[in-house]
Amino acid sequence: MEKKIMLTGDRPTGRLHIGHYFGSLQNRVKMQNEVDECYILVADVQALTDNFNNPEKVRKNVREVVMDYLSVGIDPEKATIYIQSMIPEVAELTVFYSNLVTIARLERNPTVKTEIAQKKELFGESVTYGFLGYPVSQAADITAFDATIVPVGEDQSPLIEQCREIVRKFNSIYGDVLREPEVYLSETKRIKGLDGNEKMGKSLGNAIYLSDSEEEINKKVMSAVTDPSRIKKDDKGNPDICMVAYYHNLFSTKEECEKVCAECKAGTRGCVACKKQLAKNISDFLEPMREKRAYYEAHPEIVDEIIIKGTEKAREKAKEVMAKVKKAMKLDYFEK
Ligand code: TRP
Ligand code: SF4
Repeated sequence: MEKKIMLTGDRPTGRLHIGHYFGSLQNRVKMQNEVDECYILVADVQALTDNFNNPEKVRKNVREVVMDYLSVGIDPEKATIYIQSMIPEVAELTVFYSNLVTIARLERNPTVKTEIAQKKELFGESVTYGFLGYPVSQAADITAFDATIVPVGEDQSPLIEQCREIVRKFNSIYGDVLREPEVYLSETKRIKGLDGNEKMGKSLGNAIYLSDSEEEINKKVMSAVTDPSRIKKDDKGNPDICMVAYYHNLFSTKEECEKVCAECKAGTRGCVACKKQLAKNISDFLEPMREKRAYYEAHPEIVDEIIIKGTEKAREKAKEVMAKVKKAMKLDYFEK
């Protein structure tokens, strides 16, 4: 039987939010119990592709992201958590793979395309070589561990497809060495922002972070976009265009949701009370995570230990795969 190897990760550019939770973290927590090996990388090199001018931000967020992982229930006994830049084999593989992908293909990658459009301020008229090529580096992340399953948010699918193409190209030239990974998407896929934006994102300022306090959640929920035509309390509302109703569907019981909808439509429900109830449900949902996070915040040495051990273990695995790659590429000089 082929081993099931899961690999995934995030750019350390900020704390993780509930969009990450429903989009992929939840899946990863479940999957860590179902695979033979599990690797989770903190993609600091990739974070630098669009934050090269802000290394302090990337550095600071490495531990934040790891604490988020631990607080949602990623178990360091099951999952190997490591820092991307500390695995030099990944950088080497990136160079080898860069011959197997064209510039036109990278420019057509939908994820890269969208991101470039959003980063005009940073890149101006011409994007960097590093940013355009980050899908190649991501293919190295995945294949350096022989990964077969990649649980990520929907926006990452084109990157996994690009990785599969690189794998096929590599194997067709150098022999059957690399494995094609499968993407694993969550059912929720993507959750909208508090402002009604299609996407929740740190750069969009419309996110609830897993580590937000009760007060922060209250404040954010109070500012959420509701049905604008409801002015007086007894105006009839339309929950379908209200972000509060949308989030009730994620965080409240089925009975509560039905009540919210019915009362909103009948004009018997006040928006403030509706928001208060939602804020409480979100806060209750996040409470166990906040508690776990507080423990790790108080014990940074334990977090460091987890990262150091994970990175050592990850390095061993990447070295094994690198030996196979070099042999296939006839770069195994002086090896016996
Ligand atoms: N691209 C991912 C993000 O934007 C992070 C990432 C880097 C990743 N390497 C990966 C995800 C490998 C899955 C597999 O957050
Ligand atoms: Fe939204 Fe609730 Fe107000 Fe209806 S009552 S518009 S669901 S906040």
